[in-house]
Amino acid sequence: MSGAGTVEESGMRIHELAKENRSVRRFRQEISISERDLLRFIDSARLAPCGANLQLLRFTPVTDKKHCSQIFPSLKWAGYLEDWNGPEEGERPPAYIIIHAPIGERKHLPVDVGIAAAYTVLSARESGCGSCMIMSFDANMIEEVAGTPEGYQPFLIIALGVPGEETVLDEADENIRYYRDVKDRHHVPKLALDDLIVPVKE
Ligand SMILES: Cc1cc2nc3c(=O)[nH]c(=O)nc-3n(C[C@H](O)[C@H](O)[C@H](O)COP(=O)(O)O)c2cc1C
Repeated sequence: MSGAGTVEESGMRIHELAKENRSVRRFRQEISISERDLLRFIDSARLAPCGANLQLLRFTPVTDKKHCSQIFPSLKWAGYLEDWNGPEEGERPPAYIIIHAPIGERKHLPVDVGIAAAYTVLSARESGCGSCMIMSFDANMIEEVAGTPEGYQPFLIIALGVPGEETVLDEADENIRYYRDVKDRHHVPKLALDDLIVPVKE
């Protein structure tokens, strides 16, 4: 705080990371990510806020080739890129974090998962590691690899690795679909700040 009722405008580290942190779907598969690094990213998720501080989520770090190649076929990539079936051999993720959540209706759980995932990917990005959160996957296939605890289900998978593609942050007009340009760069259109702001009632 720089004075009564104000916050410092220079506190921009998270904002810079947020600008930089586009989802990555093509990786440098030959560059491995260590389990130690994944545990550091998960440790940021451990410290994240969660409903009633219950800390119900569990995490599986995956770095070995065998398990990565078992996880990969269960994932669905980039629904808007209709002519692309996901990363080729050589550009596939060298690491994953699987987030498990208890089965049930607890309202705060999807929020908890989202916050934990956000802390994880920002921590990863700070270390130069790109990522993509994936919710479209075959849960049965994942459970066979991950040893999901009793009463839990795999809820979100984070694919991780050194980025092997260029991403571009665009300002959206009415079209919010991501796309690739002729130079094979992945563009992500985001709405302007003004478009998101709902003023209080007069
Ligand atoms: C909850 C959630 C689920 C997602 N599921 C998938 C998925 O199944 N497959 C995929 O390729 N991307 C998935 N994504 C990535 C989104 O497509 C991506 O965040 C969005 O296009 C915006 O791009 P950005 O992350 O670069 O800002 C998911 C993201 C979130 C937050």
